Amino acid sequence: MNKIESKEREQWGTRIGFILAAAGSAVGLGNIWRFPYMTGENGGSAFILIYLIFVIIICLSIMIAEFAIGRRSRLSAVGAYKSISPNWTFAGVLGVLSAFLIMGFYPVVGGWSLAYIFKSISGLLSSTAISDAFGDFIGNPIEPIIWMAIYLSFNLFIVAKGISEGIEKAGRILMPTLFILLFIIIGRSVTLPGSSAGMDFLLNPDFSKVTGQTFLAALGQAFFSLSLGMGCMMTYGSYLSSKENIPKNALLITMLDTVCAILAGLAIFPALFAFGLEPTEGPGLVFVVVPTIFSKMGSIGVILSIIFFIALTVAALTSSVSLLEVVVAYLIDEKKLARKIAVGISGGVMVITSMLSSLSMGILQDFHVLGLGVGFFDFFDILTDKIFLAIGGMLLAIFVGWNVNKEDLKDELTNGGEIDFPLFNLWYILMKWIIPIAIIIVASMGMVSMIKNGLLPLMLFGIGIIIASAIFSKKL
Ligand code: PHE
Repeated sequence: MNKIESKEREQWGTRIGFILAAAGSAVGLGNIWRFPYMTGENGGSAFILIYLIFVIIICLSIMIAEFAIGRRSRLSAVGAYKSISPNWTFAGVLGVLSAFLIMGFYPVVGGWSLAYIFKSISGLLSSTAISDAFGDFIGNPIEPIIWMAIYLSFNLFIVAKGISEGIEKAGRILMPTLFILLFIIIGRSVTLPGSSAGMDFLLNPDFSKVTGQTFLAALGQAFFSLSLGMGCMMTYGSYLSSKENIPKNALLITMLDTVCAILAGLAIFPALFAFGLEPTEGPGLVFVVVPTIFSKMGSIGVILSIIFFIALTVAALTSSVSLLEVVVAYLIDEKKLARKIAVGISGGVMVITSMLSSLSMGILQDFHVLGLGVGFFDFFDILTDKIFLAIGGMLLAIFVGWNVNKEDLKDELTNGGEIDFPLFNLWYILMKWIIPIAIIIVASMGMVSMIKNGLLPLMLFGIGIIIASAIFSKKL
């Protein structure tokens, strides 16, 4: 693996710019929308504990590897794999495909969030049936699609403007705002009478609820939340200056993301229990529970609700621009397209996939994609979160552990011997042995429960895609 010194490749303007953008990619709907509802559905703190263990043992090491491979090759996912070993191109292709598929539902939820900023102003909180209002809204054939399109066009604009101008600026302003907002909401939530049951739910593990599915859900959530397993952090790493300390940056970003997810849990569950609502509300959790919480607080509630959904939209935006960037960087690096054209093409397709996802919440509710037993939204979601990301992470670990020269890795992670990475050997053993084996075990356990839930056809389809991409990727 040769080190590529890139003079021409755009680079992050400043260190803090990189950290904020990478943390911005990690912190998003995954933390604030998905983490609480996954926690709620999977029984609370036992899920959180398993999640934390996966973050520390698996995901942190994967993030270090993604940054290293990206910076070493100065290429986005596909080119990075290809330049090191052409047989592995498919792992990069799979990553681009994952990014593309996630962008088949992410803008829908981003659009909901955007809409809720305005709904908070226009009387949502005075409605007596907030849960019904959410169901009616997402099932509407037109309204959520308009919001999705507005949300998606923000993404296209930022990515079309290019890496340092667009993504970096967005991250720099918006990330700190989000943290401040979460603290404000927590302050309110934990002081409500009856909120201690929520703290209990978050802090006292109930292992009787843990199944194979809990493990796969926690692993998929960890990959999703940290933007791993699909070349996103690899692409960001490819813009990283050769002076940066990769392990330290990875640790910082992992901590920021994890803290943010926990903060989101702290913001939601104490209040949820205080008001006697159900933790198993599902994907609507944030959109039903948070406005309900705020609706009982008078006019302060309206303001807090507006702030909350601005924060959620902003967090979502800094994540989805990174997803779009994976697809766009592939088209630029591998297909030699101009940035604006690459953005135009990907945006055009994503509008259609997201539209289908949105419609699957309403008029296309009973339509099953390719007869696989799930609608469009779940198709994009389950395929990526439960299958592709973890497999992508496993492939990366095997690739790094078995195909990349150990000395090259050491050279990259220590900046040619200039900085220390005392845990290098531990990291290397994790990549080579522990992570691949751990992911195989968790994936097998999860698959057994997926089969029980009738998801065998979808699973086989996902595996088929992985095999097909391995066969055809040399042409890509
Ligand atoms: N990590 C983002 C979130 O938590 C989603 C994401 C996944 C972004 C994969 C990029 C890559 O919302």
